Amino acid sequence: ELGPYSHFMQKEIHEQPKALSDTIDTVLDHGFNASLFGDAAASVLPQLQGVKILACGTSYYAGLTAKYWIESIAGVSCDVEIASEYRYRAAFANPQHLVVTISQSGETLDTMEALKYARELGHRHALSICNVRESAIPRASDLVFYTRAGAEIGVASTKAFTTQLVGLFALAVTLGKVRGRVDAAAEAQYLDELRHLPGSVQHALNLEPQIKLWAEQFSGKQHALFLGRGVHYPIALEGALKLKEISYIHAEAYPAGELKHGPLALVDDSMPVVVIAPNDSLLEKVKSNMQEVRARGGELFVFADLDSHFSESDGVHVIRTPRHVGTLSPVVHAIPVQMLAYHAALQRGTDVDKPRNLAKSVTVE
Ligand code: F6R
Repeated sequence: ELGPYSHFMQKEIHEQPKALSDTIDTVLDHGFNASLFGDAAASVLPQLQGVKILACGTSYYAGLTAKYWIESIAGVSCDVEIASEYRYRAAFANPQHLVVTISQSGETLDTMEALKYARELGHRHALSICNVRESAIPRASDLVFYTRAGAEIGVASTKAFTTQLVGLFALAVTLGKVRGRVDAAAEAQYLDELRHLPGSVQHALNLEPQIKLWAEQFSGKQHALFLGRGVHYPIALEGALKLKEISYIHAEAYPAGELKHGPLALVDDSMPVVVIAPNDSLLEKVKSNMQEVRARGGELFVFADLDSHFSESDGVHVIRTPRHVGTLSPVVHAIPVQMLAYHAALQRGTDVDKPRNLAKSVTVE
């Protein structure tokens, strides 16, 4: 069942080009049209005033990424909340806001309960982005987008995450179209980005030998810091979660601009700092944050794309991810952080597919 792979997680990381192209096929079949989200969507999407995303763990980070897309592409306000927090607070509900739940399993109890609670509070419409057909959460939702990642067995979510991002990107573009913010030329451009995504992800997978060498340096560390800015900040969060979860190395993620407000105090020469630094509009800011780290002796491990123009220097290691792919860049940068966590865990000899204390589907509170 594992074929040439040592673990399900490794297999699932490598299945991403296929999982993504299968999921993208669904988008291509419908185009960026309401029908992508089910029959009810045509009447629901045009009247929306906002989006509220509810999820847990890695799925929550997919939601955080989507917020950037939904606000910038569709011009719709979007807030993202951890399901287990939302369900216990007296939240404000605008019935014109679409509730979007994101769940690989479709059975996560907190996400399910958050959805029910949102309905009780008056939300009228709910979209489920889910990987398991006919599971509880899509059954309780009027709109559905199924990711086509296939069965995910490793406890740590990998291909489910990147395919969720495709569904969420499609939501952002579709909403943008409905609202007249995305014209035919922009739509063609977004379709093009989607078509190129599996190829770029394959390029990122080819970085595995270099990432393995980095992982060897990480495996003896107690702590690590992940930095990113803008739409790459959620990828830093995801990288830190993956590393914690399977290698048991304590890791935290910060938006790089926040360093000087506290976490910089942690940085010394025993703290590896991973930076997601592709060539986007915030790159120059990220570079100055990196200098702050270097000045305190922190060792930098930088994922920079071909256009970021970084060079290696003392204490600065660089791995080049593929040429900047545009809006979908966070999807491509999810791959190297998954592989880094995987190889660090291998080095430490942990049970990669079944990390201690964790379950694949969290159906308890
Ligand atoms: C982390 C991970 C978890 C899940 C979370 C939500 O690698 O897998 O954080 O993302 O338990 O699960 P789903 O998506 O099934 O609701």
